[in-house]
Amino acid sequence: MRKNTLQQDLTTWFKYNQRDLPWRENQDPYRIWVSEVMLQQTRVETVIPFYHRFIEKFPTVEALASADEEHVLKAWEGLGYYSRVRNLQSAVREVSENYNGVVPNTSEEISSLKGVGPYTAGAILSIAYDQPEPAVDGNVMRVLSRIYNIWDDVSKQKTRKNFEEIIRELLIDTDPSMFNQGLMELGALICTPRSPSCETCPVQVHCLAYEKGVQAELPVKKKKKAPKPKKMAAVFLKNENGEVLIHRRPNTGLLARLWEFPNHETIEKAGSQQEQLGAFLQQEFNIKAIIGHEIQQVEHVFSHLVWNITIYEGELLGEKFEDEDFHWVNATKIKQYPFPVSHQKIIAQNIKEE
Ligand code: ADE
Repeated sequence: MRKNTLQQDLTTWFKYNQRDLPWRENQDPYRIWVSEVMLQQTRVETVIPFYHRFIEKFPTVEALASADEEHVLKAWEGLGYYSRVRNLQSAVREVSENYNGVVPNTSEEISSLKGVGPYTAGAILSIAYDQPEPAVDGNVMRVLSRIYNIWDDVSKQKTRKNFEEIIRELLIDTDPSMFNQGLMELGALICTPRSPSCETCPVQVHCLAYEKGVQAELPVKKKKKAPKPKKMAAVFLKNENGEVLIHRRPNTGLLARLWEFPNHETIEKAGSQQEQLGAFLQQEFNIKAIIGHEIQQVEHVFSHLVWNITIYEGELLGEKFEDEDFHWVNATKIKQYPFPVSHQKIIAQNIKEE
């Protein structure tokens, strides 16, 4: 008996077993784009409620292009990797201006948009436009490493390129949208990182790693460095009206343009955290304040670093001042500003609902 091809087995399985996900309701390229950007570093279950809210607020290219950046960041608040959404909005503005609001359907044009790398380009072109383009992310590389028993390091660019070539061949006689999504879905539901469900895998007969019993050893991935700890001190600074001072982070770098409680890295040997924080506020921002008691400890783990923030209460000495990067806010106003999760914890503990 002739064996079905990998493509047939995978796409048939996908057709009947795919999850009912909100971005699978139609082939709107804008919606698929938003979902793929959200899904890049975030799990499906986390993404779903964010996706619903985001699409409700910004249902079209035009809606997102014309939105205020701060509203867009607010809608992304808690998802992390905020440059994703800043890039998305820049790219969508470009689509609005240069492509009449229609997401381009050529690899060259779509890849020229800000933040659109080979994975996102391939995902949009295949899922929204049915084009035979590969969409290779970490999950797809895990699946293919196993099926083809490939021991190349998946953190290398060259490995991803090899996988793209393998997929191009496989796409010659199959439905690109079904096949690429089938690989993603298989990686999510069956061919999971730890203890894959090989016994129920629809492509088990095609899997060389399974045949050799080495599926648990694949994919090969260079170990990431442990995140570096960083000790910080932040101030919860109140004025006589009970308002608290918040600061906008710089335009570039980690958590760019999100709001925070003024804070600074502290060093073990340079005196107390309170002294260092007070000196920083004075020198850097020209803010005179008394730094009081510790009120909270917050830890936040990023992919490459860990913040250990000690929060101190503070009292403003002298005049209240305000500019575009320093706002005094009450419990109602503060809700409109996008904050990183670590600083949302400071709000949650120290600001009572009005
Ligand atoms: N992960 C990345 N893209 C995905 C998609 N379209 N569906 C499910 N999981 C995904």
